[in-house]
Amino acid sequence: MNNSVAIRKATESDMQTAFKLIGELGYPDLAFTEFATAYESVLKQPAMTLLVAEYNGDIVGLASISRRPQLRLAGDLITIDELVVAENVRGSGVGRAILHYIKSMSRDSAVRRLELETTRTRESYERGFYIKNGFTEANSAVMRINFANLGNTGTDDDWRTCNSR
Ligand SMILES: CC(C)(COP(=O)(O)OP(=O)(O)OC[C@H]1O[C@@H](n2cnc3c(N)ncnc32)[C@H](O)[C@@H]1OP(=O)(O)O)[C@@H](O)C(=O)NCCC(=O)NCCS
Repeated sequence: MNNSVAIRKATESDMQTAFKLIGELGYPDLAFTEFATAYESVLKQPAMTLLVAEYNGDIVGLASISRRPQLRLAGDLITIDELVVAENVRGSGVGRAILHYIKSMSRDSAVRRLELETTRTRESYERGFYIKNGFTEANSAVMRINFANLGNTGTDDDWRTCNSR
C-alpha cells in the first residue's frame, strides 16, 4: 500500500468529496446546491486555490487558500481559508503534508505572510498543530458582521469554526 500523500489542485469532479470534507470540518448543515455554487465560484477565482490531498488513492484532505496584495506588507498575503482532513485518517500526516505544500508554495512565490484563523477550542489548536508546523500565534481579535443567515452554525466560539463564520 502506498502511504504517500499527493497534493493537487481540485477540479469540478472533486466537488462531492469536498462537500463531504466541509461537513467533517464542522459544517454538516450546508445545502449541497448552495455549496456547489460556492465551489464553482472558488474554482473560477484567480486569487484562490483549492487543493485536495490524496492518500492511498482516496481524496482525504481539502484546503482553500486566497492570495492578495496588502499595502502594509508591501507584498502578498496568503490566507488558508479552509483546511480539513477526513476523520478516518487524521493523525496520519496528511494535514502536515498539506501545510508543507502551502508553505513551500508561499516561499517559492515570494509571499510576505501566510496565515490562518482558527478557534482555540479546536482540538488541532489545543494539540499545538499549527505551532508544530511553524506558525506563531498573533495577538489579534476577529471582528465581524454576518449579513446572511448561515444556518444552525452555533456561536463564534463554536468548535466547528475554522475561518470562523
Ligand atoms: C487539523 C487537521 C487538518 C490536521 O490534519 P491531520 O492529518 O490530522 O494532521 P497530521 O496527522 O499531519 O498531524 C497531526 C499531529 O497530531 C498527532 N495526532 C495524534 N492523534 C491525532 C488525531 N487523533 N488526530 C489528529 N492528529 C493526531 C499526529 O501524530 C501529529 O503529530 P506530530 O506532528 O507530532 O507527528 C485535521 O486533524 C482536521 O481536519 N481536524 C478537524 C478540522 C480542523 O480542525 N481544521 C482546521 C481548522 S483551521
